[in-house]
Amino acid sequence: MTEVLSLRNVTAGYGPITVLNDLSLSLRAGEIVAVLGANGCGKSTVLKTAMGLTRVSGGTLSLGGTAITGMPAHERATHGLGYVPQTRNVFGDMSVIDNLRMGAYLRPRAFAAEVEKVFSLFPRIRERRNEKAGNLSGGERRMLSIGLTLLLEPRILLLDEPSSDLAPSTVDLVFQSIADIHRQLSIPILLVEQNVNKALEISDRVCVLVRGHEALDVPASEIDTRHLHDLFMDGGVRTS
Ligand SMILES: Nc1ncnc2c1ncn2[C@@H]1O[C@H](COP(=O)(O)OP(=O)(O)O)[C@@H](O)[C@H]1O
Ligand SMILES: [Mg+2]
Repeated sequence: MTEVLSLRNVTAGYGPITVLNDLSLSLRAGEIVAVLGANGCGKSTVLKTAMGLTRVSGGTLSLGGTAITGMPAHERATHGLGYVPQTRNVFGDMSVIDNLRMGAYLRPRAFAAEVEKVFSLFPRIRERRNEKAGNLSGGERRMLSIGLTLLLEPRILLLDEPSSDLAPSTVDLVFQSIADIHRQLSIPILLVEQNVNKALEISDRVCVLVRGHEALDVPASEIDTRHLHDLFMDGGVRTS
């Protein structure tokens, strides 16, 4: 299968701090790849690095056939990378639909059709479209923030812990939506998660990080969760 995003031997971090060490990871067409690992092992840094938000001191990144190692974040977005950070501030004082209008300002003509796509993926957001975004539940706000990124018509999604801090019933809904996005819009997804079991249910492949390096990269069906636990412990931090 074609690689749509790849990091090859990437070393990256923040200022003088190195977080990712000689990390190689790829996402192919049609895949959901889960990035798992202990707290602080560098999962969010992988997504930020893919998006161009860290300092890369070694290795190369490519998006499809295009080298993007030194490309600024806004250009990566126009090349089709859609990034949903773990906490994205929607504008709480504005209605849901106005948040969506803001998100789509770059493509105003396509708004009606694009927003319909978001509404059909997230019926709850359609129901709540005239509500102030600040009054949404955690799960609804998460769906709105994913919807805002979808309005930019990404070819690849980078999702950082979409299920964090949500009620268990909402977690199922969010994972279902991610699977729907993947299937209905044919978008490959790089998914950072703490919820290992849920991530395994929807992922094709799993990359486990230990201290910024890939310790395991295997099909999700081959994962032994006991082995995962050992790897997480090796990261030095308990995850549960
Ligand atoms: N902006 C930053 N500046 C400096 N260090 C950071 C920054 N963001 C994260 N780090 C450090 O990088 C390491 C990995 O962080 P992160 O990628 O957020 O881990 P994870 O998402 O796996 O919990 C941590 O040690 C964290 O303290
Ligand atoms: Mg993180």
